[in-house]
Amino acid sequence: MTSPLRKPFIAGNWKMHLTLSESVALAKEVRVGCADGGPEVALCVPFTAITVVAEAVKGSPAAVGGQDLHWEAQGAYTGEVSAKQLADAGCRVVIIGHSERRRYFGETDETVNKKLKSALGADLIPIVCVGETLDEREQQKTYRVLETQIKGAFMNFAPAELSRAILAYEPVWAIGTGKTATPDQAQDAHTFIRKCLARGISEKLAAGMRILYGGSVKADNIDSLMAEPDLDGALVGGESLKAANFVRIIQFRTQARMERKA
Ligand code: PGA
Repeated sequence: MTSPLRKPFIAGNWKMHLTLSESVALAKEVRVGCADGGPEVALCVPFTAITVVAEAVKGSPAAVGGQDLHWEAQGAYTGEVSAKQLADAGCRVVIIGHSERRRYFGETDETVNKKLKSALGADLIPIVCVGETLDEREQQKTYRVLETQIKGAFMNFAPAELSRAILAYEPVWAIGTGKTATPDQAQDAHTFIRKCLARGISEKLAAGMRILYGGSVKADNIDSLMAEPDLDGALVGGESLKAANFVRIIQFRTQARMERKA
């Protein structure tokens, strides 16, 4: 169970799925499952669905997020969307540096860093994704990869500027594969990430920063993941498209930890 310093955060990443009517229907079902006093919830939806989903969840604890942004405020950047445009459309959150962006669209630690600056400047809550590939894990490079990605993303920020930022540990081998990291593997990576933040930036920031786990999170594994002390929430892909399963994920039960660890 996460520290009281850190409010749990569950984000759905809809990726490139759903029409507008399907988006509204799903958002309305999620809305019903979000209770006051539960975790913070965000639905990170395709750009085209932001305004309709924002309308569908208006007045509920669920926020809307984008899945990417451009670092410039405006300009001749065909196909791109800025932080200000996301905020204006109704977003409070934005995912940055997802492994699919890194793998298919040339995202680098440098562009992640610039996007983070822009997102924070527009008062968005950034969810910065880091994680190793299977190859890197097998070659015992997990820690090195995580440290490089974190340093790259958080370079040139004062600790106070980063207080709103959220990190998501998403091992690439677990994304969309049905192969979830075990709670122990996830906790191990989260502990390392927190140490890295304490060493490289500040103890205070490390203690307060929410670190989400992502990669094949499901209704039947969320409880054991959330039972780990350094897991502060989840970034959910495939299962966030199924209303009942996502609602169950939001309503995770941390009791499992006490039973497991007893
Ligand atoms: P998944 O995706 O839950 O479908 O594995 C997670 C993500 O890509 O954020």
